[in-house]
Amino acid sequence: MASSAAQYEWHVAGDGAIGMALAYRLHHHDERVVLLSRERQDDPAELLYEPFGESVVKWSCPTMHQPEGCSIQRLLVTTKAYSVMEVIERWSPVLQAGARVYFLQNGAGFLPDDALPASAVPLFVVNGGFTAFRAERRHVVQTSMKPVWIGNEAGAPVPTTASVEADLRVLDKVGFHARWTADIARYRWEKICINAIVNAQAVIHETTNGGLLENDQARLDIRSMCDELDPLLAAMSIDLSVDHLHEATIALLRATATNVSSTLQDYRRGSTRHELDRINLVLLEQARSLGIDMPVHEDVHARVTGLFDRGNRG
Ligand SMILES: NC(=O)c1ccc[n+]([C@@H]2O[C@H](COP(=O)([O-])OP(=O)(O)OC[C@H]3O[C@@H](n4cnc5c(N)ncnc54)[C@H](OP(=O)(O)O)[C@@H]3O)[C@@H](O)[C@H]2O)c1
Repeated sequence: MASSAAQYEWHVAGDGAIGMALAYRLHHHDERVVLLSRERQDDPAELLYEPFGESVVKWSCPTMHQPEGCSIQRLLVTTKAYSVMEVIERWSPVLQAGARVYFLQNGAGFLPDDALPASAVPLFVVNGGFTAFRAERRHVVQTSMKPVWIGNEAGAPVPTTASVEADLRVLDKVGFHARWTADIARYRWEKICINAIVNAQAVIHETTNGGLLENDQARLDIRSMCDELDPLLAAMSIDLSVDHLHEATIALLRATATNVSSTLQDYRRGSTRHELDRINLVLLEQARSLGIDMPVHEDVHARVTGLFDRGNRG
């Protein structure tokens, strides 16, 4: 039976790895959830959810692709950063007053100041803990459910409303362990720096995260990219040392040794779109505006965007 728009508690925009995993977790805990896709999908869609190393579960997920008759109180945006505005343009007209909009993207600069209605509550997640990949188009494998950070642009010390607090309790219960922080900006920039390094190096060397650790040139480039960020982080008053950044990058590569970075997955899929403009370019633009030279980052960005342009053109 096709989905009746008004009945859902959770709207998850983006039917990819994170969206399908979150939708299953919510459904599994009896929350009414619908997956919002860009194009029309089967409704319900038959999806496969696989907790890492355990048996695959088949389930039926309600889907929608147009907002007619819909009214949203909680929107989880799980697309890539470059698709966020497509989602907001389509779904913001049906956000209820006070609707919470959770952004799970890597990167920054994807949400213009006036993109959401003034009554909506935007919240930002720095997701290093809830990870998944698509084994097939409709088959998601969950690889971890560790804590993630959440906060708002103003750096509020506690969740801003009782509704946000209640949402976080539900999300925690279903396995999305969001922990509120007043320091979301620092977590965000740390993740942007690490992703700028890991995602780009993974494409340049066409290897898994663990493969980067075994490659002498990659290890040298990782160190140089970390070191080059020192004056930028200082100029931006971000309390993050490059030694910590380097250790965190190496620790991530060790912990996720068999993972293929999402940017390399996009590249291998033949996509012409990638998140570098919301990650690497954001760092470069900050540096340029502050008069700080970052030649290694400039070179890496040019090489990877060149690979996408040449490899995936047409
Ligand atoms: N996967 C992880 O473990 C992980 C961990 C941390 C952070 N992240 C971040 O989380 C975000 C999502 O990652 P992901 O791995 O889930 O990406 P993904 O698998 O590529 O999923 C994104 C999904 O959004 C869909 N989409 C695109 N435009 C849309 C629109 N206008 N409306 C509705 N759906 C739309 C895409 O459909 P099409 O494929 O048809 O375009 C795709 O199914 C990214 O920013 C990523 O960097 C991911």
